[in-house]
Amino acid sequence: MNAPQPRDRYAVIGNPVEHSKSPWIHARFAEQTGEAVEYGRILGPLGGFEREVTAFIASGGRGMNVTVPFKLDAHAFADSLSPRAAAAGAVNTLSFTEDGVRGDNTDGVGLVRDIEANLGVSLQGARVLLLGAGGAARGVVLPIFDRRPASLVIVNRTAAKAQQLVGQFAQAAQEANVRLSGGGAHSIEKTRYDVIVNATAGSLDAALPECDDAAFGVGTLAYDMMYGPKPTVFMQHAERLGARAADGLGMLVEQAAESFFIWRGVRPDGGAVLRELRQTLTAKA
Ligand code: ATR
Repeated sequence: MNAPQPRDRYAVIGNPVEHSKSPWIHARFAEQTGEAVEYGRILGPLGGFEREVTAFIASGGRGMNVTVPFKLDAHAFADSLSPRAAAAGAVNTLSFTEDGVRGDNTDGVGLVRDIEANLGVSLQGARVLLLGAGGAARGVVLPIFDRRPASLVIVNRTAAKAQQLVGQFAQAAQEANVRLSGGGAHSIEKTRYDVIVNATAGSLDAALPECDDAAFGVGTLAYDMMYGPKPTVFMQHAERLGARAADGLGMLVEQAAESFFIWRGVRPDGGAVLRELRQTLTAKA
């Protein structure tokens, strides 16, 4: 009889981490692809990120996903960074290789893939509005540019932070031939956008970011990076104005799929896992 194949070890680290869906998602990916992967969860003590990761590496760990509040620690810990992780200023995927610790950020690609592959909305030539200018917003700008939208407007409650992002990404926008602008809520043009992404932390406390009603309409995809058993206030607002609304569950699955691809060189089918996850989430509602 053959001995069971040893499994390569991965984990998600966060605080809190008990509700993370990543172990479940990666277990589905491993089943689907036949990759010999074991994926756990690690509660990182605040201030103890480096110690936990070093111990995981020493015990044979191959890679980690990193979630709140450690994405900046992971950025600092990595020996080298992918361009998208460097631009995001945050790391959600660590790979432990012979050349050291490699940091990547798959959140933006996860968003873009969910919009295009799962929701069937092309970003090419689209007018895109990004609400928010924190870490979540910064991480998606380059992956959005990669899909060649016509324009991207970044709007934030604190206008200066949006303007700072516009400055940071001005050259990349020029290279990608994307019209980039932004600032406070007055920067929103009073015409319908094709895609509006809510990257503010507003949905956490049921707050609606300021956004002109004229931005939403039939043909708009209003995407909230948050998710839950019920539509967020942003999604409800967008639907009342005739838009199609989506939550961030697909982004969660697709960022995981990209991490799995980085580690294993095999691309799992995110759409199938998303459908299964959606069923378990709505069954709880
Ligand atoms: P993250 O890393 O999740 O993006 P962050 O860096 O704290 O978190 O950024 C939170 C974002 O949500 C910011 O754009 C913040 O706006 P400010 O820069 O003006 O603080 C935005 N945000 C949080 N609560 C909000 C609310 N109630 N209405 C509008 N924007 C909100």
